[in-house]
Amino acid sequence: MSSITILGLSGNVTTPSRTATLVRATVQSLAEKTGAETDIIEIATVAPHLLSALTRATISPEGEAILRRIETADVLVVGSPVYRASYTGALKHVFDLVGFDALAGKPVILAATGGSPLHGLVTDHQLRPLLAFFRALSLPTTLYAVESDFIDYRLASDAIAARIERASSEAASFVSATALPSPAPRLAATA
Ligand SMILES: Cc1cc2nc3c(=O)[nH]c(=O)nc-3n(C[C@H](O)[C@H](O)[C@H](O)COP(=O)(O)O)c2cc1C
Repeated sequence: MSSITILGLSGNVTTPSRTATLVRATVQSLAEKTGAETDIIEIATVAPHLLSALTRATISPEGEAILRRIETADVLVVGSPVYRASYTGALKHVFDLVGFDALAGKPVILAATGGSPLHGLVTDHQLRPLLAFFRALSLPTTLYAVESDFIDYRLASDAIAARIERASSEAASFVSATALPSPAPRLAATA
């Protein structure tokens, strides 16, 4: 069993969700390349535990456990529906509760879904700065799908599938690097 965990965090506030579909497909693609364990958190399903607390100090044990899953995962896939030209406020609230050092150096694939292609840069202009605050390592290829890329909440676009493949291939090299044992100590130079 792998000790590496890929966690998909989807900022959807309703179910079923196109964003959750995109996040799951990306997590799955990366898991197939790496053999890593997978975990998925949809805000819609954990909202009672996370949105009822305004601070980390007042969160329930269930909410604390969910935040710990986010903080201890080795790789993240963070996705959100576009709401009012940004990620959902619910997702931002969760990030307000995450420890500010906890994501440093973690590889992150950024993803979003929207009604309009005009908001396709939400990953670069909104999600990337948020993850930069945490010093996370957001990867170059981001994912953006519109409603017509789905049929009945299932992905139905070869272009998006190809993009997922590219994003997960990029991330896979970081997972391999994370999984490698520490380098052997250097031999002392001989005279
Ligand atoms: C409150 C609300 C605000 C939205 N704002 C935008 C927006 O600003 N730009 C956009 O392209 N789509 C917008 N949409 C459409 C959603 O982003 C789109 O339907 C998305 O795929 C929904 O994802 P989900 O199925 O994961 O909930 C909005 C939808 C809702 C309900």
